[in-house]
Amino acid sequence: EKAGFDHFMLKEIYDQPTAYRDTMGSRISGENDQVVLNEIKMTDEEIKSIDRVHIVACGTAYHAGLVGKNVIEKLARIPVETDVASEYRYRSPIITKNTLVIVVSQSGETADTLAALREAKRQGARVIAITNVVGSSVSREADDVITTWAGPEIAVASTKAYTSQLIAFYLFGLYLAQKLDTVEADEVKKVIAALQELPQQVESILEQAEQIKTVAEKISLHNNLFFIGRGLDFSVVLEGSLKLKEISYIHSEAYAAGELKHGTLALIEEGIPVIALATQEDVFEKTVSNIEEVVARGAYVLGVNQEGNEELAKVVNESFTIPRTLDVLSPALSVIPLQLLSYFASLARGNDVDKPRNLAKSVTVE
Ligand code: M6R
Repeated sequence: EKAGFDHFMLKEIYDQPTAYRDTMGSRISGENDQVVLNEIKMTDEEIKSIDRVHIVACGTAYHAGLVGKNVIEKLARIPVETDVASEYRYRSPIITKNTLVIVVSQSGETADTLAALREAKRQGARVIAITNVVGSSVSREADDVITTWAGPEIAVASTKAYTSQLIAFYLFGLYLAQKLDTVEADEVKKVIAALQELPQQVESILEQAEQIKTVAEKISLHNNLFFIGRGLDFSVVLEGSLKLKEISYIHSEAYAAGELKHGTLALIEEGIPVIALATQEDVFEKTVSNIEEVVARGAYVLGVNQEGNEELAKVVNESFTIPRTLDVLSPALSVIPLQLLSYFASLARGNDVDKPRNLAKSVTVE
């Protein structure tokens, strides 16, 4: 079942190009210029009446929801809030019949997510589920379902489910943009073209896995480290940090790079590893200056940015580049080296990669 891989997690990391292709599948039509989501049964009028979106999920799915917020706000210009499901219900969120609630769950069985869905429906919201399991509780109870076609995910650490959730958000964001006319047709076409390049770009990242393995072996000797990034990179480092904690048991914190000097910088000392994402062109210079702040204090930095920009490599100890893409799509590439980093760090520490201690694949109790 592991198709020749040592662990399910590694197999699932390598499944990602296929998962991207399958999740996009027939949802892109015409001359590659249109997103068609037949599974969304909302009328155009209902779509136009949406005045806020709440994205609710747990763990890795929540991190996908953070990217989803950015994507929907950017493409559809509707205000979005993303919440962890265990908090959402208890903070009396403002839900009206014009609220669209999107629950995200690989398994479709997470207790808190399901409870949030029920509460949202009870208050009259329309609920869309993004899930990987056809027929799951969440898929049965939601009004509409966008299935991620990642195939079964066995490893406790979620990888291909997360990236397929990102693809689902890109498709849904474009779908809304078409309905609401918030993005020019040419621009939609550009995003769709870039989306379709992603699977092959992931393949090219996977070919460089050895480079990440070397860094992972070094960081596996540490008990504390930091992840930093700005904008979408911040959302991705939150996921990278969770992944690393979950399977390598190394304590890490993900920080918005610009927040460092408001406290965390005090913890940066000689030799501490810092994983820095700098894939967002519009904040690139600012991110580099944040990276320089930790370099100046002796941190050992792995920098990740888009290829074709040599500036970061000059500043950091180790550098890794992802293929060029639109900034908004970069999470679907930049998370891959972070998944590999966690995998190889866990392996180097001799942990049970697929079944980390204290954790279950599906959390069906509150
Ligand atoms: O099945 P779900 O997507 O609802 O699961 C949510 C979280 O429990 C899950 O993403 C968890 O955080 C993963 N183990 C992370 O790798």
